[in-house]
Amino acid sequence: MADPAPDDSKFLFLDNDFRNSGVAQADWSAKKMVWIPSEKEGFETASMKEDKGDEVVVQLSNGQKVTVNKDDIQKMNPPKFSKTEDMAALTFLNEASVLQNLRERYFSSLIYTYSGLFCVVVNPYKMLPIYSEKIIEMYKGKKRHEVPPHIYSITDNAYRNMMQDREDQSILCTGESGAGKTENTKKVIQYLAVVASSHKGKKDANPQPQQQQAGSLAYGELEKQLLQANPILEAFGNAKTIKNDNSSRFGKFIKLNFDVTGYIVGANIETYLLEKSRCIRQGNTERAFHIFYYLVAGAKDKLKEELLLEDFSAYRFLVAGHVEIPGQEDDEMFLETLEAMEIMGFTEEERIGMMKVVSTVLQLGNVKFEKERSSEQATMPDDTAAQKLCHLQGINITDFTRAILNPRIKVGREVVQKAQTKQQADFAVEALAKAMYERLFRWILARVNKTLNKSKRQSSSFLGILDIAGFEIFEDNSFEQLCINYTNERLQQLFNHTMFVLEQEEYKREGIEWSFIDFGLDLQPCIELIERANNPPGILALLDEECWFPKATDVSFVEKLLNTHTGHVKFSKAKQHKDKLIFTVMHYAGNVEYNAASWLTKNMDPLNDNVTALLKVSSSNFIQDLWKDVDRVVGLETMTKMSESSAPTKSKKGMFRTVGQLYKESLGKLMTTLHNTQPNFVRCIIPNHEKRAGKMDSNLVLEQLRCNGVLEGIRICRQGFPNRIVFQEFRQRYEILAASAIPKGFMDGKQACCLMVKHLDLDPNLFRIGQSKMFFRTGVLAQLEEERDLKLTVVIIAFQAQARGFLARKAFNKRQQQLTAMKVIQRNCACYLKLKNWQWWRLFTKGYFEDKRQVGPDPFGIMTTLENLANA
Ligand SMILES: Nc1ncnc2c1ncn2[C@@H]1O[C@H](COP(=O)(O)OP(=O)(O)O)[C@@H](O)[C@H]1O
Ligand SMILES: [Mg+2]
Repeated sequence: MADPAPDDSKFLFLDNDFRNSGVAQADWSAKKMVWIPSEKEGFETASMKEDKGDEVVVQLSNGQKVTVNKDDIQKMNPPKFSKTEDMAALTFLNEASVLQNLRERYFSSLIYTYSGLFCVVVNPYKMLPIYSEKIIEMYKGKKRHEVPPHIYSITDNAYRNMMQDREDQSILCTGESGAGKTENTKKVIQYLAVVASSHKGKKDANPQPQQQQAGSLAYGELEKQLLQANPILEAFGNAKTIKNDNSSRFGKFIKLNFDVTGYIVGANIETYLLEKSRCIRQGNTERAFHIFYYLVAGAKDKLKEELLLEDFSAYRFLVAGHVEIPGQEDDEMFLETLEAMEIMGFTEEERIGMMKVVSTVLQLGNVKFEKERSSEQATMPDDTAAQKLCHLQGINITDFTRAILNPRIKVGREVVQKAQTKQQADFAVEALAKAMYERLFRWILARVNKTLNKSKRQSSSFLGILDIAGFEIFEDNSFEQLCINYTNERLQQLFNHTMFVLEQEEYKREGIEWSFIDFGLDLQPCIELIERANNPPGILALLDEECWFPKATDVSFVEKLLNTHTGHVKFSKAKQHKDKLIFTVMHYAGNVEYNAASWLTKNMDPLNDNVTALLKVSSSNFIQDLWKDVDRVVGLETMTKMSESSAPTKSKKGMFRTVGQLYKESLGKLMTTLHNTQPNFVRCIIPNHEKRAGKMDSNLVLEQLRCNGVLEGIRICRQGFPNRIVFQEFRQRYEILAASAIPKGFMDGKQACCLMVKHLDLDPNLFRIGQSKMFFRTGVLAQLEEERDLKLTVVIIAFQAQARGFLARKAFNKRQQQLTAMKVIQRNCACYLKLKNWQWWRLFTKGYFEDKRQVGPDPFGIMTTLENLANA
């Protein structure tokens, strides 16, 4: 029952033909195959020909011979390790082998591979039959090594660990955009919705009457809502980008709560860093958030009128008009989103309120200002758009126009009306659009969480899934990228630390002496460079400080950074002196040049507080609710002071929350949560940037392996004893190398292995003997493999010699018999020739030959001899 259909199994199970092929093994050892760097393929195979000290001569697959530096070659693993399910078991742990292994598996449609603690998944860009109900059944309750690598296995193990050890769990999916984080996150939830559902009639006293079918699975109400939360979040938080048609423009942490019996009782979603600037600007072929298109394409008749919707081309904020997504109809998606909202229990009023906000954001883009001829002051000659948005928001148009064009600002003790320039007014409207959308998004989240937490049942533990952008290096790296890279720096630290702790435990359990260094500490200097509060203040703190400094600019911020951190091991200034806005941070995955343009503004995120005050008292309850907490935003007053007065606005410091500060706090909270869980690491990899199945750009993958810490993990692995074999297997495979060392009869596995390594004369630093297994440094197993190969060759040659001798002797005997027979024939023929003309003889034979009945056909046996010879 649990087995997948036979034709599906090839998408999960390894085909062992190649690994066990003697020919491949012989080929590997005879040709001394290695990897050398290649510009196009990352690495290419070559065969070692000559050793010249620091350099070696190798022959490429096309026959060409080249000389390469010894440091540049990477050893190739024996075929026994081909397409290995856990790359930590590779005896040569190097970049080339990791890449090759992933590539071979990917081309065999095996997209999941382990690398120690990591589960690496390469985006297949096509539907594979590995997510069916049957496959879920197959993974239920199975240990990691019992089944092929899969996100289900990671999930199941996390779930079982949570149940057994009562320890909270987390699954961390990272990777660059389009790598498959969100898809895998959904698979985790889908799996748990099946495995940990209280529905199914067993436990639930009153099952839901209207069971909804999703595929062939019947979910309970909560599970259904859990699955439906996603379409809503995706409609409002996802967009089409160059890299991904459905790119999440925010990070999220989904916490699923379970009761003591392991059933889901609720969930909570937290989000990070919504890319709100996408509301107002997008790349040429990109889209704003999906909901804008769903709404404009899908709202018809009365609804369209009520929301004052216009055509795509009428909206300035939808830069490229109606950009469509292949294979998806926006109007259908609108209905699906509405349905999801209904399942989540959103009321009609809430739904209309949400849509009005979306329409308002679009309308804000159409508000146009002009410069007055005589002064710098902004005017709004046409207020159609403003009227519409005021109607939608339930505020007064005159108040709104005044708030934007002539806001009241407190200067000292007085309140004055201050005319705004066109630039200021434009900025205010854009900032308002972004803030409005962000508030809507946060409101939706809170609303979804409310629905997901209705259950009265007590939760006892949780499993959290993090879906957040991975470390990336762009040409132009901005403030947001710093936040993302900072997050990943901390996540990598968590990984390094976890690995350290687990290794330590394993070594202790096996009773092995080994003083390990905590590799998490490697990342500490970089983290401190970013987040340290003082002595000296880190990048975020300096940015905050600069925000409250009069007449401060992005350039003065970078100057301050340079003054404070010159000499810091993880910091350097721009190579070119004139780049006054550039500074470099050395992250674990590479050096990133950040461009500090508009960082001050981004960090303060100022808003026109005259407008927010209006919204707070809007005639619509929904809008009031959105704007109920506007006290701590940076308003016009602060901005004016910043640009005009020369005294530091000291008193304000701490009053406001900067974006950097808020982010650092929420990340801090997330990290505390994660540190209290048992983490499981999933690394998603995008194989090419064309969204194409079956194509792998090796350099792109290598770059990601570097950024996502897989190679870093391997670096750590290499310092210890990464290759582990249980005694039994070790003895079975390598006994041939030390056959005389083990006496006949029964012997304990550990004892036998001890004798074996003693006999093998292995350097004690290369291995450790634990309680149940042997530990080896990288490369040792390859050496043993090679020796085993040699030994086998000797045995086989001896066997071959015996066999050949036997066959040769047999053939020789036959030849000898043939020789005798030939002699007989010759003799007979000679006799016959001599006799045939002798008259007496003829007379004698005549009677015989003529009467065959008397003598038979062959009186001298000539014919029989000839026949025998022919048959021999
Ligand atoms: N396991 C998978 N099977 C099939 N297609 C996938 C898988 N993972 C990703 N994809 C494809 O890649 C696209 C991008 O994946 P997504 O999870 O949105 O990336 P990310 O969240 O990392 O930006 C998806 O829309 C889907 O078409
Ligand atoms: Mg995503």
